Amino acid sequence: MRRLSRRELLAAATVVSAGAALGIRTAGAVPRESGLTSEGLLAGQAGFQPRTAMALPYAELPEFLSAGQLAAHHAEYVRLVAALKTAEDALAGLADDAEPARYASLRRAQVSAANAVLLHEFYFRNLAPRPVAPPRYIESHVREHMGSLVRWTADFTRCALAAERWAVLVYDPYDDRWNDAIMNTDDDGVWLGANPLVVCDVSEHAYARDYSRREEYVTKFVQHLDWEEVARRYKRVDRM
Ligand SMILES: [Fe+2]
Repeated sequence: MRRLSRRELLAAATVVSAGAALGIRTAGAVPRESGLTSEGLLAGQAGFQPRTAMALPYAELPEFLSAGQLAAHHAEYVRLVAALKTAEDALAGLADDAEPARYASLRRAQVSAANAVLLHEFYFRNLAPRPVAPPRYIESHVREHMGSLVRWTADFTRCALAAERWAVLVYDPYDDRWNDAIMNTDDDGVWLGANPLVVCDVSEHAYARDYSRREEYVTKFVQHLDWEEVARRYKRVDRM
């Protein structure tokens, strides 16, 4: 049976306590809104993506990813930023009576490149040069949503070995749940409106120079996950 989310527990408790005090049955309190969920991770930031490539946070991650592997992967990310700009320039210059198929293909290219850029930025930023223990804030939420860190690690690893492009831990504010998700392309597979907390790139270009087996790479990824960064992300979007 699915465990109750915090929102459901809060709503149930409100009904019980208000009903007991007043002798009547009342509706549960509406959760406090903290702005559009899609802007949560960007709250206080200038915009979605400045259309320029970010620098790598670390040129090398000793005992995880070599400088050569990271540089090659970063070059791929720079190419994606350029692809996003190219698609947007083409859309801006497209005639109103252009072929619908041409318009649709540019729109799809734009979304795919925008997602790939965002996911690469989340990926590079959630890698740490040495093991980072999950802060207490994250530990309690991992327990609530995933049972335990061990269970989450096992499930996330399963996703990372099955995915063709990305394994992602997302927070879905509609359901107030954390979910591990698999993306086979840059624009499918994840809940609409959900916020990425942990992002692992499982394309061969992310690891093949350093690892012959994806299993070894994913094991190291989990060991080099920057839980402090995950905590910062979750604090910005957690609605309860
Ligand atoms: Fe990549």
